[in-house]
Amino acid sequence: MTIKPELIETLRKRREKIKNHISPEKLEALHAKGLLSARERINGLFDEGTFQELGMHAKHHAVYFGMEGRELPADGVITGSGYMGSEQVAAYCQDFSVMAGSLGKMQARKITRIMRYAIKTGIPVVAFKDSGGARIQEGVDALSGYGDVFYANVLLSGVVPQIAVVCGPCAGGAAYSPALMDFVIMTRKNSHMFLTGPEVIKAVTGRTTTMAEVGSAEMHASVSGNVHFLAEDDQNAIDLVKHILSFLPPNNTEDPPHDLSVEIDDTPDPGMDELIPDSPTDPLDMQAIIRRLVDNGEILEVHASFARNVIVGFARFCGVIVGIVANQPMVMAGALDLNAADKVARFVRTCNVFNIPLVTLVDVPGFLPGVEQERGGIIRHGAKMLHAYASCTTPKISILLRKSYGGSYLAMCSQELGADMVFAWPTAEIAVMGSEAAVKILYRKELDQAEDRAARAAELAQDYRNEFASPYEAASNFYITDVIEPCETRATIALALRKTLGKRELRPGKKHGNMPL
Ligand code: HXC
Repeated sequence: MTIKPELIETLRKRREKIKNHISPEKLEALHAKGLLSARERINGLFDEGTFQELGMHAKHHAVYFGMEGRELPADGVITGSGYMGSEQVAAYCQDFSVMAGSLGKMQARKITRIMRYAIKTGIPVVAFKDSGGARIQEGVDALSGYGDVFYANVLLSGVVPQIAVVCGPCAGGAAYSPALMDFVIMTRKNSHMFLTGPEVIKAVTGRTTTMAEVGSAEMHASVSGNVHFLAEDDQNAIDLVKHILSFLPPNNTEDPPHDLSVEIDDTPDPGMDELIPDSPTDPLDMQAIIRRLVDNGEILEVHASFARNVIVGFARFCGVIVGIVANQPMVMAGALDLNAADKVARFVRTCNVFNIPLVTLVDVPGFLPGVEQERGGIIRHGAKMLHAYASCTTPKISILLRKSYGGSYLAMCSQELGADMVFAWPTAEIAVMGSEAAVKILYRKELDQAEDRAARAAELAQDYRNEFASPYEAASNFYITDVIEPCETRATIALALRKTLGKRELRPGKKHGNMPL
């Protein structure tokens, strides 16, 4: 028996209607703005011919106010999975051309179904957010749909990587779904994200504001910290998704894709010395140090525009994938503040969840002193760093380059917070506080009586640096593993990582620690 041709014809027509509902003129207009259609985004993500759609024919059945007879192709969201190379990834994309991609109960069912599929099969989820929010006609059904999505976000959190791409409007409570995911990418020109927009703010508070001030990609990437990566346009966002996933395992039970076939390069690198300023008070450029240390000089910075006094990101050491945490002395002298503490704590926990080793590069004068910092809760925020590092059980290698003072020495993954190996350069200074501040307290009377106070203070500070704060002092108390030459750093880290990759650390069983938030 052969299948009746009209059955095939009907299927083809139905598919065609759902897949190609956007006219060529409208598609061209989207492209002109740097936007792709929902299907183009999904197709761009996956290797050709590997995407399998879930629920293309699904649609709402309840009779909602004003919706009788309205056709909503795929109910405004494309969901399914495909391959990127050998890795399967789940994805969904809201379709703005269908009722502004608004979310109702069926759309939420489709989204949560693909998320459940991802958790069952242990694969990452990529979510393109492009939506006018809750579908107004569906009322409480739409709200319930959002609740279902949030619940699924939390269920998946810590099990499979979740990446949100905000590439259109993302308004109201809808913005909480990206906020519950591991990484948020936002496109510069065409997206905005807020809980209450300019109009509501004006109505409720009387204050006039703009979308740029409360909801733009730039603002979220540099001020609020809600966004981890900025993309120029949709295509750039897709490329970024692939780049991020190249550092992550598919789920929390697997290791990231290290390339252990790469041989450890133990050649000394004298070029490192040139990056260290002559004077200990001149700032060192940590960006240059990192790029000199890692494979091909490549780091994928996370939160690159936010709290720039610290640098966090993914890189490789002789094929081993790591999360790098580093102070940046070129910004605020590298002091830790409220936002820096949040940035580091969050990144450390992300690495821990996905079994990524941590390399911490330390040149830190302390926590930033200030009324705003104390009133803003620097104790609580700084404690997040302590909690995150101490809870992290992946391999942890720390390098003390120069300043390592006080609480910030501990907070930047000291041995006491669980670093497996701590190496110090001969230029490292490890002390309760900086030498200038210390001599002012310790030698107040002597300095008051000195003929040339400044010269005597400088002399005492030098002695203090050489004796009390010297890395050999810390090494003699066995607080550090070894003192190394800067030119040995790359090889030392690479070797230490290979040796600690198999690390297993058992902790007392509990629901979860009570991290300060
Ligand atoms: C139903 C919607 C819709 C929505 C837009 N549309 N938003 N339909 N529910 N939420 C429809 C429009 O009526 C229009 O239909 C089509 O989608 C395109 O919308 P336009 O307004 O013409 O497009 P544009 O000018 O580009 O503006 C896009 C927009 C704007 C900025 C998203 O539509 C907008 O502000 N919409 C409302 C946003 C909002 O307030 N959502 C609720 C947020 S509260 P036609 O038939 O004319 O083509 C929320 C609560 C969630 O989400 C709580 C979770 C906990």
